[in-house]
Amino acid sequence: MDFSMIKRLQMPKLDLRNIEWPRFDFSGSQWVKMTKLRIGDAVAKLPIVQGGMGVGISLSGLASAVANEGGIGVIAANSIGMLDPEYYAKNKDANSIILRKEIRKAQEKTAGLIGVNIMMAVDDCLDLIRVAIEEKIDMVFLGAGLPIKGIPVEDLRTAGVKVIPIVSSARAAGLIFRSWSKKYKDIPDAVVVEGPKAGGHLGFKAEQIDDPEFALERILPEVVAEIKTYEKKYHRTIPVIAAGGVFTGADIYKVFKLGASGVQMGTRFVATHECDADIRFKEAYIACREEDLEIIKSPVGLPGRAIRNSFLKDVAAGKKMGFKCAWRCLKSCDIKSARYCISLVLDNARQGILDKGFAFAGSNAYRVDKIVSVNELLQELIDQYQHATEKGASKLRDEYEKALEKLASLKEEYLIAMRKGLSPLKEEYERGIEKGAILFREEYSKTMDKINSLKAEYQNAVDKANLLKAELVELFEQYSLFDKLQIEGARQNP
Ligand SMILES: Cc1cc2nc3c(=O)[nH]c(=O)nc-3n(C[C@H](O)[C@H](O)[C@H](O)COP(=O)(O)O)c2cc1C
Repeated sequence: MDFSMIKRLQMPKLDLRNIEWPRFDFSGSQWVKMTKLRIGDAVAKLPIVQGGMGVGISLSGLASAVANEGGIGVIAANSIGMLDPEYYAKNKDANSIILRKEIRKAQEKTAGLIGVNIMMAVDDCLDLIRVAIEEKIDMVFLGAGLPIKGIPVEDLRTAGVKVIPIVSSARAAGLIFRSWSKKYKDIPDAVVVEGPKAGGHLGFKAEQIDDPEFALERILPEVVAEIKTYEKKYHRTIPVIAAGGVFTGADIYKVFKLGASGVQMGTRFVATHECDADIRFKEAYIACREEDLEIIKSPVGLPGRAIRNSFLKDVAAGKKMGFKCAWRCLKSCDIKSARYCISLVLDNARQGILDKGFAFAGSNAYRVDKIVSVNELLQELIDQYQHATEKGASKLRDEYEKALEKLASLKEEYLIAMRKGLSPLKEEYERGIEKGAILFREEYSKTMDKINSLKAEYQNAVDKANLLKAELVELFEQYSLFDKLQIEGARQNP
């Protein structure tokens, strides 16, 4: 038996230098309500975007109300021309005409931030972007397709219009940023990542909708990570805005913890007085139950979430609704086999004609129980967010305290093991070698293993405590609470 290897083994040494472990005291803290959302030089007081909702659900009324409260209000551009009684005569020009009108109306009502939501799948998407540029809108949200071809980036930049793609995966975000970087030597200003709980058309395959792999909580950090490379390359901060199923202020807190800097919400804004839809559309939200929310296959070629009603039941049973196609607004629409015109039925729903249409809605629509003002809704979200922040901070502090306790006990255990266990054993072992006793070799290496694993555990515990400390310090910085931070002698080097 060769004992020389073991003889040469080093005693595992732990770095026991002093680390400052501060105490965190949140008592009586004044929590900042919500952090602002900065998209380039556009700053929203509240990090809340009201998602664009077509057809005609979010127009100048809702968008300006949200902007007046400090959020970002968004006008949905797709098929907006249906508001024009002469839609079928003017065809696609109607969209540009009404969009321009709505932008101007919104700008008259607010000095806040207004955006336009445009679906890349619609045939006139570039015309609508042009209107947004001419009217110097603050930002465009581009969804339902990748905004990579023919985007007038220079004109958008000259007019100061921010560009925000809506994606459902890190892959799509990567594709857009890569393509922009290559083609335009520029990148979009922010990204909305929309999960499968959203209302309206969804950027997922039907079978992905309930798959946890595609949940917002899963895709959001992936998008945040994907964008990081471009933030570094362009020395810009690109906020990621989370959408789909964000219902309460606690939900906002949760997605912020996952790396979001803002949220986009649709469903909650439908049930507001200021929402531009007919009251019957809003009442459909209040009346619906969880089991009434279903995934439909839209003629757009994407699945969508809607509230089941007699119209959708008839469609499911194979009924067709006769319609006149104005100008083939969707390249992907198969007019011959389509059972209805999606623009027409959504416009009917907007007007409350729900037997000839249906309401798109997010998976939380059944939780909506009353119609409130935009101000009331935002106040509720702010209060809930604040409560969640306080709860989160105390939880973090408790975890940190526990980590420090664990650290202290581990350190003690380690020192005892070193002092009592290893040294005498080593001597004994060396004597044992002389005697040729194998037993000592085994016990010695067992003790070494224990000390090595204690060392690893201790170092993990230090890492964990450091992470928690960093998170708490960040929280303190964010809330300027440094007067509440105390470094206690007893806390040093546990
Ligand atoms: C009635 C309705 C219509 C919508 N229409 C559009 C649209 O035209 N374009 C779009 O990009 N998203 C649309 N959406 C999605 C919203 O903008 C938003 O991202 C989504 O609803 C967020 O999920 P939430 O409803 O759970 O808050 C719509 C959502 C709803 C509820």
